[in-house]
Amino acid sequence: MRIAFIDLASQNREIAERMRLELEQIHSNTSYVGGEQVEKFEQEFARFLGVKRVVGLANGTDALRLSLLALGIGRGDEVITVPMTFIATAAAIVQTGAKPVFVDIDPETCNMSVPALRQMLKACSPVKRKAIKAIVPVHLYGLPAPMAELKDLADEFDLKIVEDACQAHGARVRMRDGWAKAGTIGNAGCFSFYPGKNLGAWGDGGAVATDDEELAQRISLLGNHGRLSHYAHELCGYNSRLDSLQAAVVRAKLEKLDEWNSRRRTIATVYREMLAPLGVCPIPEPQGFESCFHLFVVRSTRRDAIRSALIQNEIGCGIHYPVPLHLQPALSYLGHRHGDFPHSEALADIVVSLPMHPTLAAAEIVRTVEVVSEALAEKPKSYVGKVDAAIARVGI
Ligand SMILES: Cc1ncc(COP(=O)(O)O)c(C=O)c1O
Repeated sequence: MRIAFIDLASQNREIAERMRLELEQIHSNTSYVGGEQVEKFEQEFARFLGVKRVVGLANGTDALRLSLLALGIGRGDEVITVPMTFIATAAAIVQTGAKPVFVDIDPETCNMSVPALRQMLKACSPVKRKAIKAIVPVHLYGLPAPMAELKDLADEFDLKIVEDACQAHGARVRMRDGWAKAGTIGNAGCFSFYPGKNLGAWGDGGAVATDDEELAQRISLLGNHGRLSHYAHELCGYNSRLDSLQAAVVRAKLEKLDEWNSRRRTIATVYREMLAPLGVCPIPEPQGFESCFHLFVVRSTRRDAIRSALIQNEIGCGIHYPVPLHLQPALSYLGHRHGDFPHSEALADIVVSLPMHPTLAAAEIVRTVEVVSEALAEKPKSYVGKVDAAIARVGI
């Protein structure tokens, strides 16, 4: 049985009729960049998130870069993030002229460690403290970072927060005054609509969410050639616009997002239950955190055996990420070495992402777990029997 890591074709089938009509309309009014589709998406996504403004952009990397630039961050500044993330998180910081400063992750949640951040901020010299302008927490794999504590620290040290919510569409976290969606807590929340995301376009796309009208205005200006009107430019900006076609796709998918995220949650529940006897360790979902299960990642010291078995059996899998950013050649100028961020380094050696998408079938989950089990030379009897019960209960 061949099992796909993600299945975008089945998502396309669910939005096919609507997209046929939207495409007809786009091609007849030929408004390909900006226009009604983008405006409507910005309003609908703002409503979904519960923020005042969403600005559509060309991709998630630009969402991060333009948010930082719009907050006045640039050369001479430093911005804190984690080493265990996709390169774009740090690249966006570098592209502003600022220096990325890494803080290690919590080994359990795999998100930014609050004690490590606090210790770093308390230990740094007054000059360094002054240079640090912002934190970019990453909601890795769809599990929100500890935003309540991070916000307290940001307030204490007068730091901006730019959330990397590129993997966290619809995830939620409990704040002191109730639940909030990932990407709505910091000064700006950055989303990617890369096709494989929970809310994915048919190409690249991205957006920033914010309650700060002025910031939204500035990000929009930066992303559209610094344009005030067609040929009046306040500044030399960038060309980073969400196009109509991508906006139409993410509008159609946004209507399905809650349902799709809930199917991901069900699948994660079944995976967790079936994997429990095998000793592999999924990313937890602590109280007060609601993942959107962008990826279903497990940790095992026998990761390489699991991965080989999955590949051999034509089961899609991935490693997110094999090399932490402080050890990437692109960032070698920062002068880090092995051992600098031990939790990120350890995680890179033990993670493997199993198939996860809203239409993953029960039989596909069973087969995937079987192969993991065989790779670990475990007897499947430990979970057989539980499978039917788990599937009947969650109804997939
Ligand atoms: C954590 C994280 N940050 C940033 C990005 C960058 O988004 P994009 O590929 O849309 O530029 C991604 C997307 O792959 C991501 O996963």
